[in-house]
Amino acid sequence: MTDPKTYHVKSYGCQMNVYDGERMAELMAAQGLTASDDPNAADLVVLNTCHIREKATEKVYSEIGRLRKDGRAPMIAVAGCVAQAEGEEIIRRAKVDVVVGPQAYHNLPQLVADAAKGAASLDTDMPAIAKFGALPARRKVGPTAFLTVQEGCDKFCTYCVVPYTRGAEVSRGFDALVDEAKALVDAGAREITLLGQNVNAWSDGDRGLEHLIVALDEIAGLERIRYTTSHPNDMTQGLIDAHRDVEKLMPFLHLPVQAGSDRVLKAMNRSHSRDSYLRILERVRAARPDIALSGDFIVGFPGETDAEFEETLSLVEQVRYAQCFSFKYSPRPGTPAAEMVDDFIPDEVASERLQRLQAALNAHQLAFNEATVGKSCDVLIERKGRHAGQMIGKSPWLQSVHLETDAQVGEMVAVEIVSAGPNSLGGVARVKAAA
Ligand code: 5AD
Ligand code: SF4
Repeated sequence: MTDPKTYHVKSYGCQMNVYDGERMAELMAAQGLTASDDPNAADLVVLNTCHIREKATEKVYSEIGRLRKDGRAPMIAVAGCVAQAEGEEIIRRAKVDVVVGPQAYHNLPQLVADAAKGAASLDTDMPAIAKFGALPARRKVGPTAFLTVQEGCDKFCTYCVVPYTRGAEVSRGFDALVDEAKALVDAGAREITLLGQNVNAWSDGDRGLEHLIVALDEIAGLERIRYTTSHPNDMTQGLIDAHRDVEKLMPFLHLPVQAGSDRVLKAMNRSHSRDSYLRILERVRAARPDIALSGDFIVGFPGETDAEFEETLSLVEQVRYAQCFSFKYSPRPGTPAAEMVDDFIPDEVASERLQRLQAALNAHQLAFNEATVGKSCDVLIERKGRHAGQMIGKSPWLQSVHLETDAQVGEMVAVEIVSAGPNSLGGVARVKAAA
């Protein structure tokens, strides 16, 4: 195999993978490789995989098969959480060239060079946080950028693979993050989303996430700050207060609860109760009354009864989320819940529960969107719409807004919201906000 000249990175799963995928692309570009939009034409394809729910692994193997059809033989690197979980097994089974875990991808250039010499190469070490210091400078980015501030999880929810694939909770240092945020703004970002599996567990000495947010608030040219995903137990009063005090911090909070029954929450090892969760939301709403709330749900956790599922529905009615993600429980190898085979919920039952939950969540999402009609807000333009003159951006509450405007990508436009659908809003540009 010769040294690859072109590369394509394909990321699956969460936003942290999107961030890692960008950083891997930057690494390859720094090696002199050229980006290719087409995975079927690139010399090197990086599959940046996700292991959070079922069939992830099988999907990776079928993707590898597709990349090799018609006799093509690109260099294939499997990165991300499947790489971490499966390790050498991927090389044995699919004869890929490189396997690299989420904490080791700064070594990708070396692994690719080794693979070009003929040996499959693997690195799934977990040297906490070391990679960030070894990555090239940020290059040009769009108006919205991700910034990973924290990785890993110490919570060990019984259904979840993250503590095994991403390792223990580790925070990057305050100064390095402020520097990277400035570099992102210099490179074109006007909104930064701070990322972490437990982003609100971020700390540096006695500084918590709110201190980082305040520091970012001072960066000229940065207009919006967001963060995701948070754990209820790390939702400190300082962070809640930031939603009241920090103007650039957008009124949006993704705070997964997973289930509404205390028995299920306990079996999930969530270490918060229905009530303690609801009390956190009360404090958040007191600090920022217009905040849009978002969450994650799992239905059909082993042993979940009909009555317990009803408690999830009643919690949803109580909170009225602006948007949510919801999933059927999927057993993950190596996790405690995957051992509870005797209590597994039949798929038809879980599917029916998911449908009922999603019907409620969708209705609330539409209601939230409809309540925005008549309001004025800033929209950060992110991309062109389908027809000429149409642009698409985001409201402060993370809704997509479609509007006719001559404003370009990256501009902030003052908009009046005039219509609402389940997944987006229609707006009319008023005057351009001061740049
Ligand atoms: N099955 C189903 N959903 C899961 N999630 C995490 N692990 C599982 C699993 N084994 C969901 C949770 C989490 C989101 C990222 O994915 O809701 O918050
Ligand atoms: Fe997984 Fe729970 Fe950690 Fe979230 S908090 S990453 S669901 S173990």
